[in-house]
Amino acid sequence: GLPARVRVHEVGARDGLQNEQSAVPTPVKAEFIHRLAAAGLTTIEATSFVHPKWVPQLADAEELFPLLADVDAALPVLVPNERGLDRALALGATRIAVFGSATETFAARNLNRTVAESLAMFEPVVARAKEHRAHVRGYLSMCFGDPWEGAVPLPQVVRTAKALLDLGCDELSLGDTIGVATPGHVRALLCALNDEGVATDRIGVHFHDTYGQALSNTLAALLHGVTTVDASAGGLGGCPYAKSATGNLATEDLVWMLDGLGIETGVDLAALTATSVWMAEQLGRPSPSRTVRALSHK
Ligand code: HMG
Ligand code: MG
Repeated sequence: GLPARVRVHEVGARDGLQNEQSAVPTPVKAEFIHRLAAAGLTTIEATSFVHPKWVPQLADAEELFPLLADVDAALPVLVPNERGLDRALALGATRIAVFGSATETFAARNLNRTVAESLAMFEPVVARAKEHRAHVRGYLSMCFGDPWEGAVPLPQVVRTAKALLDLGCDELSLGDTIGVATPGHVRALLCALNDEGVATDRIGVHFHDTYGQALSNTLAALLHGVTTVDASAGGLGGCPYAKSATGNLATEDLVWMLDGLGIETGVDLAALTATSVWMAEQLGRPSPSRTVRALSHK
C-alpha cells in the first residue's frame, strides 16, 4: 500500500541553483528559501560547502547561511570533506550530507577521488558530525546509470550504499543523477538493498527527470514503502559534473500527485507554485514543471 505521509526533501536551492549559468544573488537565494519554508516545506537543502572553484554558483554559502537563521525548517548542507564540515559547523549547521558515487568515473569527476578514497574522505566527516549530534545524509549518485559507464550493476550500487551507511549515515538518498531509471529498476534496487539488510525507512529517492520518468519512479518507490522523496521547486537543477543531467523531479509535480493520492506532505501547492513562478522570473526563463505551467496559466 501507499504511505499516509511523505517527507519532501527540497533540493531546489542546492541541486537547482548549483546548475545555473549565472550566479543568483545571495538575497534572492535567501528569499527563495524563506518562501519555500512558508509554503510548508520542512526540509530545505540550503547550499554546499564545497570548493568554490568547483561550484562557483554556491560560493556564497558563508554569506547565505546566516540569512536563514529565522527559517522554520531543517536546512541540510552538502559537505564533501573535513574542510567543508568545518565551514558548516562554524555557521551552526545541524544537518549535513556527504555525497558518494556508485561509479569510479563520477567519483573522479565530482570529487577528484576514487570511490574508496571518497569513502575514506567521508569517514572523519561523518564521525565528527555525529560527535556534534548532526544528522547525516549519505547521497549515492549514479545508482541506475552513468553517462560514461552505462548501466550500473545492482551489486555495485548495494556495496557502495552499505559502505556509506556503515560510516554512520542516518539516511541514504539514492540518486538517479542523469534520470535514466525506470520503475522496474527502482523496485529491483530497493529489493536488492532490503535483501542486504538495508531497511526501507532509511532510504530516500532522488530522481532527475531527463526521460520524464521521475514521477513514475517515485510512485514505484512509494509502493515499496519509501517515504522520503527529494524534489526541486519548479524542476530546477542538474549537476555540473554529470553530462546529460537535467532538473530534478519538480516539487509541484510531486505534490500534485501526492495530493491526488491523499498522501499528506504539509505543502501548500499554490504558495509553492507562486514561489517557482517568482524564481523563474528571477532566472529569466519559465519553469520546466508541467504543474507549475498548468497552475500558473489558469
Ligand atoms: P580537490 O581539488 O581534490 O581538493 O577537490 P583538495 O582536497 O586537494 O584541496 C585543494 C584545496 O582546496 C585546498 O586548498 C583545500 O583547503 C581546498 P589549499 O590548501 O591548496 O589552499 N578545499 C576547500 N575549500 C573550501 N571548501 C572545501 C574545500 N575542500 C578543499 N570544502 C573536492 C576535492 C571534494 C574539494 C572537490 O572535488 C569539490 O569541491 N567537489 C564538489 C563537487 C560538487 O559539489 N558537485 C555537486 C554536488 S553532487 C550532486 O549534485 C549529486 C546529487 O544531487 C545526487 C544525484 O543527483 O546523484 C547530490
Ligand atoms: Mg541531484
